[in-house]
Amino acid sequence: MKRVTKLLFSSACLILALASSQAAAVKDFSSIKEYTLMNKNGMIVRITNYGATVTAIIVPDKNGEFADVALGYNTVEGYINAIDRPYFGSIVGRYGNRIAKGKFTLDGEEYELATNNGENHLHGGKMGFDKVVWDAKACGCCNKVILSYLARDGEEGYPGNLDIEVVYTLTDDNEIKIEYKATTDKATPVNLTNHTYFNLAGEGSGTINNHVLMINASNTTPVDEGLIPIGELAPVKGTPFDFRKPKKIGKDLDKKDQQLKFGLGYDHNWVLDKKAGEMSLAATLYEPTSGRFMEVFTMEPAIQFYGGNFLDGRLKGKSDRAYNFRDGMCLETQHSPDSPNNPQWPSTILRPGDTYETTTIYKFSTK
Ligand code: GLA
Repeated sequence: MKRVTKLLFSSACLILALASSQAAAVKDFSSIKEYTLMNKNGMIVRITNYGATVTAIIVPDKNGEFADVALGYNTVEGYINAIDRPYFGSIVGRYGNRIAKGKFTLDGEEYELATNNGENHLHGGKMGFDKVVWDAKACGCCNKVILSYLARDGEEGYPGNLDIEVVYTLTDDNEIKIEYKATTDKATPVNLTNHTYFNLAGEGSGTINNHVLMINASNTTPVDEGLIPIGELAPVKGTPFDFRKPKKIGKDLDKKDQQLKFGLGYDHNWVLDKKAGEMSLAATLYEPTSGRFMEVFTMEPAIQFYGGNFLDGRLKGKSDRAYNFRDGMCLETQHSPDSPNNPQWPSTILRPGDTYETTTIYKFSTK
């Protein structure tokens, strides 16, 4: 992976690097690049056009010590060869999260998607957006990486040519802003998200169970054993899923609860308390030892909190330390899983002539 370093400020807005002009097959390593963004506070974010992946987030703790708080690898081969493909840092889609049995009906037609999670479809299928090489360009003065990908009609079973653009911006307020846009030539489901695994004490430093989490949601979408929503909303009140006030993740993890059993811990979708489409605070995450604090703002209606329950020590990350059970966690802003089969929930269907547009911000500070 060619590293495009020091994408620092410059007075003129230059296009500093161009990756492939055509989204390339995975084996075409030559078009894979990594971009480094740095803001005036010294915060660094690295992004590669393989899977539109965030490969590093280097932020200070309360004493000004910098650490990388995103799980991942030093080389693109690490991402490509990872056992069980954990989607570290990548954009997932065309439909992030699960679609039951990989099937849905749209305008009277039944579609069959690739199944890659037992009998279900997960994160876009066998060759989802995390496994393709995106076109990329970087803008130096505005600290942005602009990635685009054309998902073909029929890819992984989805209808329509979907033209996608994802823009990552690192601001001087220590925010990673992710702007998603897509258009299509046939009606299709779209649900894009970022799959960064955070550990605010630093990647490779152990469990996230001591992190303190707040999720601004009164309900979840309970699931069956295959982690497919059963179509109802369940109030969090009085359950281990109540994170409306900041709570240590480990606090209720060992409670007897069928949903926790199905998810092997937390791997669920919270329906945010908000007005449709508004940009609002979805979650906060605090790590007491380092003092690092992260806020998640989104226009999306829901968030998947995945507690790293499938990490099992077989993957070794950037600092050559094993990623064990619950050593990283994702806060994936999105529409609820299996929405195409749950018409009572906000629609994920994009139609020709309309534009899919959504923004999520991860903001870092200390307390
Ligand atoms: C998601 C899912 C999890 C798991 C991870 C990847 O967040 O909800 O069940 O599949 O991705 O390991």
